[in-house]
Amino acid sequence: MSPSLPERDREVCWHPYTQHALDTEPLPVVGAKGAWLELADGTKRLDAIASWWANLHGHGRPEFVEAMRDQAQQLDHIMFAGFTHEPGVALAEQVLEIAPDSLTKVFYSDNGSTAVEVALKAAYQTWVRRGEPARTVFLALNGAYHGDTFGAMAVGEPEPFFAEFSPFLFHVVHVEPTAESLREALDDLEGRVAGFILEPLVQGAAGMCMHSVQFLQDARRICNERNIFLIADEVMTGFGRTGKVFACDHAGISPDLMCLAKGLTGGIFPLSATLVSEEIYQAFLDDERAKAFFHGHTFSGHPIGCAVGLASLKVLKEENTPALLDHIGQRIEKGLQAALTWGGVKEIRRCGGIVALELDLNNITGDDNSGEEGADEGGYLAPVGERLRQACRENQQVLLRPLGHIMYAMPPSCVTDEECDLIASAILGVVQSVLE
Ligand SMILES: Cc1ncc(COP(=O)(O)O)c(C=O)c1O
Repeated sequence: MSPSLPERDREVCWHPYTQHALDTEPLPVVGAKGAWLELADGTKRLDAIASWWANLHGHGRPEFVEAMRDQAQQLDHIMFAGFTHEPGVALAEQVLEIAPDSLTKVFYSDNGSTAVEVALKAAYQTWVRRGEPARTVFLALNGAYHGDTFGAMAVGEPEPFFAEFSPFLFHVVHVEPTAESLREALDDLEGRVAGFILEPLVQGAAGMCMHSVQFLQDARRICNERNIFLIADEVMTGFGRTGKVFACDHAGISPDLMCLAKGLTGGIFPLSATLVSEEIYQAFLDDERAKAFFHGHTFSGHPIGCAVGLASLKVLKEENTPALLDHIGQRIEKGLQAALTWGGVKEIRRCGGIVALELDLNNITGDDNSGEEGADEGGYLAPVGERLRQACRENQQVLLRPLGHIMYAMPPSCVTDEECDLIASAILGVVQSVLE
């Protein structure tokens, strides 16, 4: 008998964020339509986590397939240095039209981590161009996650993923999402800070941690007062996830740099963008070629990605995706309310279409949730997370993945009310099974 797909996979594939010595086989997915994934055994799973927070409107939409096919027939790829193309320019125009006012130029790359690298490099090099190379420190939030490349790791929370790389990571000071904490760090580092990077409103990998709109406004004001760049990493929050097109819109603020990926293409093509203010762009204009921004990727501004990005933006505007996601979030949040009376549930929180349920680690029996390295206060490696993960795998209808001791949902905008209820009851079932 010929080997199954998981058997062949085991021979040749090394998966992201996977402990191959522990994790069960990957699920073989053969197709996807709307919010449903089709598995090789003929069963279906409702994708409640939007395929790593990317899928925005649903899988397999004909207009997206058409946009990619037409673009591939017309112009499949061309480098973006020294060349340009219609979808690249049109997408930049349209993204800037909906982005906060101060952003005037789009620098393309191909994933969220590199969008962050570009932002960090452009911010620092702007200081170098201005004759202030000693501004080598970045500020970031506790629990931050900005991707897995070296600059992105440096601004991320070291535990549990990145601590072993500390010899290679530049100086970053992590702060709480409060004005006091930010001011205090800036006082200590007077004249040495290049910028402050944050995931506005929702810190995804931290466990869908949410801070206030007020803090975003404070952060903008303080960065202005202290003359440092504010970098909004909207890789996860962008394109409607928080109930507005961008999380920054809730606060009415304009960052100096903004990182976009995932939903930029509706979540179906690797494309990202770093939006910058005119001030930053101008800092690199010079008669000397050596003063240019020397950064680029082979597939920066990929025409097929830009074409599907345009198709996705059209849907976002026509269907009001932020409002759809907000409704979905409300419905799921409502469906989870019953859990608040259970002893082991600490909190249910929501921002737009992102809903999280946090377990109360002090109220869970059956394991020590503080023993494992990186597991203090729960976190990604909290033992209860293993049990949640297992329970999620056993659910035959809804695809869920915990973040440590936190369960969350962030489905695409096409899910119906009934599907929202199914997601909520699946989360309740998973949580109940570990609290029993
Ligand atoms: C806020 C944020 N920034 C950056 C990234 C990195 O994006 P990518 O996985 O495309 O490199 C992620 C990924 O989840 C993210 O959530």
